[in-house]
Amino acid sequence: MASLVDERLEEYARAHTADAPPVLRELELYTRAHRHDAGMLSGPVEGALLRLLVGLTAARRILEIGMYTGYSALSMAFALPDDGELIACEQDPEVAAIAQLFFGRTPAGRKIHVRMGSAATTLEALRNERFDLVYIDADKENYGLYYDRVLPLVRAGGLIVADNTLWSGRVLAPRTPADLGVSAFNRRVHEDPAVEAVLLTIRDGVTVIRKRTDR
Ligand SMILES: C[S@@+](CC[C@H](N)C(=O)[O-])C[C@H]1O[C@@H](n2cnc3c(N)ncnc32)[C@H](O)[C@@H]1O
Repeated sequence: MASLVDERLEEYARAHTADAPPVLRELELYTRAHRHDAGMLSGPVEGALLRLLVGLTAARRILEIGMYTGYSALSMAFALPDDGELIACEQDPEVAAIAQLFFGRTPAGRKIHVRMGSAATTLEALRNERFDLVYIDADKENYGLYYDRVLPLVRAGGLIVADNTLWSGRVLAPRTPADLGVSAFNRRVHEDPAVEAVLLTIRDGVTVIRKRTDR
């Protein structure tokens, strides 16, 4: 998904953000060279934000919905402790094969366990698990469903982070099922007394949602 930020400012932000580990830079370049849909990469600025959030929350268990070629999963894995774990949901075997190639190149990759198949089905199987942080970045039509399913799995004080919540500006006049999925998700989160959230105008919009500790 394209950034809503001016390209020169995006580059400036990248230049003034913590450097990504070299293997992430290689994964980004590989994905851009081999995939027509490389715009789906979360990229170095969001990757650095995710590492920061993992560190700030001292997360040990992470769930990712929508792994693609693994950029955000591997970014977060770098910030996990050695015994930390990240479960990543993905349904496309081609992109998952690229991800596994790069996960195999670094010890951080060993913390990632990929669950292939529809994320809704995987979430059903994970219904008794607990997570410190959940990153939602898959099909936009199902953002509301994913939110409802993962909120009970997140510990009090833990985070749900959702990507593309400005959806290229289409949240202002939603028409398609994906547009409507994102705008309904944004409204649902905003009105939910169980959480506090901020929609950051980074890239295509990133919402950081904290489950309240008093609920
Ligand atoms: C935007 S990309 C994820 C980008 C990734 N988080 C990153 O930073 O590189 C969305 C991914 O979600 C996957 N996806 C879409 N719908 C899905 C579903 N219902 N179940 C599992 N994966 C799904 C797609 O195959 C795609 O790889």
